[in-house]
Amino acid sequence: MAKTSAIRYSCSNCGAVYFRWAGQCSECGEWNSLCEGEFAGDHKKKHSNNSAIPISEVTLKEDVILPTGIDEFDRVLGRGLVLGAAILLGGEPGIGKSTIALQVAAQIARTHRVLYVTGEESLSQVRLRSDRLDAVSENLYVIAETDMESILAVIDRLLPVLVILDSIQVVSHPAVPSVSGTVNQVRYCASELVKKLKMVGCAGIIVGHITKDGSLAGPKVLEHLVDVILYFEGENGFQYRLLRSFKNRYSSTNEIGVFSMEEKGLQEIANPSGLFVDQTTLNNPGSMVVPVAEGSRVFLVEVQALVVETGYGMGRRTILGVDPNRGNLLIAAVEKIVGLKLSSKDIILNIVGGYKTAEPALDLGVVMAIFSSGHDLPIKRRIAVLGEVGLTGEIRSVPQIDRRLGELEKLGFEACFVPKRNPLDETFGKVKLIRVESLQESLRRLSEINS
Ligand code: TYD
Ligand code: MG
Repeated sequence: MAKTSAIRYSCSNCGAVYFRWAGQCSECGEWNSLCEGEFAGDHKKKHSNNSAIPISEVTLKEDVILPTGIDEFDRVLGRGLVLGAAILLGGEPGIGKSTIALQVAAQIARTHRVLYVTGEESLSQVRLRSDRLDAVSENLYVIAETDMESILAVIDRLLPVLVILDSIQVVSHPAVPSVSGTVNQVRYCASELVKKLKMVGCAGIIVGHITKDGSLAGPKVLEHLVDVILYFEGENGFQYRLLRSFKNRYSSTNEIGVFSMEEKGLQEIANPSGLFVDQTTLNNPGSMVVPVAEGSRVFLVEVQALVVETGYGMGRRTILGVDPNRGNLLIAAVEKIVGLKLSSKDIILNIVGGYKTAEPALDLGVVMAIFSSGHDLPIKRRIAVLGEVGLTGEIRSVPQIDRRLGELEKLGFEACFVPKRNPLDETFGKVKLIRVESLQESLRRLSEINS
């Protein structure tokens, strides 16, 4: 029988392993992503001698949870850091990953030992930042190291309660021949660290950079290795940062945390509902306010549309913050159902403040913003919009409507367009409800309000 060679090919995008080279990875569909490599530990087959037991005999282990004291961070995690759990913290360069990691480290270091491993910055740079963030403490240990074996040895010696690895892309393990940042290295180093965390019973935050196309380098490889995936989002130039969870073995992934980047690091914003509404632009054509529900909170976001005659033959579409597929679908719906001729128009859609959402409840706001810009028709009063738009122009109901309307009332909105399909009265507290069934009706009512 032919001996199998130790040479394998792995996809640099998703980490799938093949015995033969191919032009396209059949797992993720990426072209030219297969690289040659030898895999550490490939030949050692592990046999477990544990026998299966009935599920009723499984003993329940209570998770030990350590709140960080940064409420916006704890909210996204569930209740706090879970000992033994690995958290992947992803985000674009410069967004504030190292800053939030150091702030969390400082909080935990008030009572427990924490290890901060920096592979990207020097110790004095970390010290400088710690001074700025008020993070200097006897319990916060730092090491500038990129060799994974040494890092694991330090964890063994120090036995911290929290380890921060900043970042996974710069560390390498001598057992893997490839350079740091490659899928093999990232996978091997992360899995060794995760094993160590479970063994030592300490929580870990693994910082990971996002590549230009918005994915974490070696994303699929890390996704199933870690227990929690957090993304730090925001636009360069805006001071607000949103922390979202994409996977959480201990809690729901609905909650988001809101921070603002200040002189002394990231500050929590406990009451962010009106943050993404620019009061000065509200009465301009093409601007609509929508109360978006995220986890247990409601955010008012401002959708803006700009519809202008194109300088070229075909109108261009630029869609920011709104899901592009939904944006295009809604543009098509306006064109077909309302008869607004848009093919020769450039359309720009945006959500103010760098906010991103794919919530269907935003639909009617998007359509009305396009209509309002196309006809130069502003909403002259403080009126919000809520509703999902179906392909035939029907306005579909929206979940959690009471909480959304409650937030509008708190912020002094006079009225709100709501789907007729939601069972509601004529008013909600002080907010007058404009109940609509179809796109045509909504746009007719919008014109009437202003006349
Ligand atoms: P950083 O945490 O280094 O980002 P990342 O680790 O994601 O690459 O944060 C980078 C930016 O944050 C940097 O441009 C400066 C800014 N910043 C502040 O505005 N205030 C602060 O207190 C700190 C520490 C950083
Ligand atoms: Mg950093």
